[in-house]
Amino acid sequence: MTLSKTNIVHELARRRKSVRKFLDSPVEFEAILSSLETACQAPSGANRQPWRFILVKDPDVKRRVRRACEQGEREFYEQVSGEFREWLLSRGLSWEKPFLESAPILVAVLMDQNAPYARESVWIAIGFALLAFEENGLNSFTYTPSNTDYPRKALNAPEDYKLEAILPIGKSADDRMKEGKLRVHEVTFIDRWGNSLDASMEDIGN
Ligand SMILES: Cc1cc2nc3c(=O)[nH]c(=O)nc-3n(C[C@H](O)[C@H](O)[C@H](O)COP(=O)(O)O)c2cc1C
Repeated sequence: MTLSKTNIVHELARRRKSVRKFLDSPVEFEAILSSLETACQAPSGANRQPWRFILVKDPDVKRRVRRACEQGEREFYEQVSGEFREWLLSRGLSWEKPFLESAPILVAVLMDQNAPYARESVWIAIGFALLAFEENGLNSFTYTPSNTDYPRKALNAPEDYKLEAILPIGKSADDRMKEGKLRVHEVTFIDRWGNSLDASMEDIGN
């Protein structure tokens, strides 16, 4: 059996890319809710479903979240150095996070810190959400604030819930190309580390 390249999940994964600039046009709330419904189907440790979402559409709250995040980013950029600093600068990244106001909707993803495997579970749900956003014609990316406490407080979320990510959602005004991806034979070994995946063995069913 050869994997079909018209497989829907594969196609969505292939098409999806991080979008950080957004058009000033509204998005359908229904499309966001439908995408989060997909995220809610994700597996989780002991099925505790430790994700909680806050949809931010009020411009005043977005401004507050942006201010809170940028305070943490300023502190972070002051102390970051070396290779990572170069990588950030080469991508034009800075402490400024305009997408937190320009995106029509922000999805703040919070994690119940007391649940087993909470982080792993929440990030699987985020993965499901990213594919569903793509399916529903929405663009997004995963922003991980340097200091998660500041925006958590700005959203009045309780201390037991860590803010894991903010997903700005909208329609793309970002003309950046999708970043390159390693192919399966570049990241997969057979039976033991270093044993290359022979082209003829890509068909695992054989
Ligand atoms: C766990 C995680 C954290 C990330 N944090 C940030 C972030 O804080 N800011 C940002 O601009 N992009 C962030 N990204 C997006 C990545 O930079 C992006 O996914 C990567 O460069 C690959 O590009 P692609 O999503 O278009 O395939 C994050 C992605 C992941 C999975």
